[in-house]
Amino acid sequence: MSAVAGAAHAEAATPVIDIRKLGKVYSPGSEAEVVALKGVDMRVFRGEFVAIMGPSGSGKSTLMNLIGCLDTPTSGSYHCDGVDVSTLDAEELAQLRLDKIGFVFQGFNLLPRMNALENVAMPLGYARVPPHERAQRAQEALAAVGLAERANHRPSELSGGQQQRVAIARALINRPPLLLADEPTGALDSKTGEEILALFKRLRDEDHTVVLITHDADVAAHADRTLVMRDGELHEQERGT
Ligand SMILES: Nc1ncnc2c1ncn2[C@@H]1O[C@H](COP(=O)(O)OP(=O)(O)OP(=O)(O)O)[C@@H](O)[C@H]1O
Ligand SMILES: [Mg+2]
Repeated sequence: MSAVAGAAHAEAATPVIDIRKLGKVYSPGSEAEVVALKGVDMRVFRGEFVAIMGPSGSGKSTLMNLIGCLDTPTSGSYHCDGVDVSTLDAEELAQLRLDKIGFVFQGFNLLPRMNALENVAMPLGYARVPPHERAQRAQEALAAVGLAERANHRPSELSGGQQQRVAIARALINRPPLLLADEPTGALDSKTGEEILALFKRLRDEDHTVVLITHDADVAAHADRTLVMRDGELHEQERGT
């Protein structure tokens, strides 16, 4: 089965991710040439929680960077929430990222000298939201991940799971339809990891789209479907019922 099955979603709905025959070659034509993605097809809809698994070097982060509009493909097409990203200039791409995509990285990427509230509010500065509204929305986002009481704590004063939840609140502050997470539970103990996964499921139930890279089959089992990357090719994983 290919990775475009799209579960039970209405044919008419616009996919949040619509990728066709996407290819990525690093350093084409040189001796260091690497064919990282080979004709990847992928369709993901609103309200879906999808896991991507696969061996090291198989192309998972390459695909995630393309989905996140941090890099451009060598061939094929990508429509993000209905927008053909190849038609956008750098400024329009930056705006698309702000409007549509939240990122959660493994290392959290929180700024150590800012407290939780300031970290969460940071992307709103770029979105030109007035300061009083920024603080209010950041407080709401922290409350949504269960950290209302920790707004004034710096990252060093928070547990690993709490830091990860701050990073998720920050990724969600602009209310993007699409949340991308590269190994978000990799640095966490299993109980804290479960809390993060429960949060992703709630976001899915609130009609967000969540795409998660993981090496852990137990983590992937929480997703609605699992896609497997092998040597730059993406396939839907069959599930026993
Ligand atoms: N910037 C780059 N320049 C050249 N080659 C790259 C670059 N980034 C990745 N690659 C190569 O592309 C292939 C896919 O890499 P990618 O980072 O997507 O793998 P991955 O599946 O995320 O692996 P891991 O599980 O180890 O994170 C690898 O062979 C890698 O060496
Ligand atoms: Mg990777």
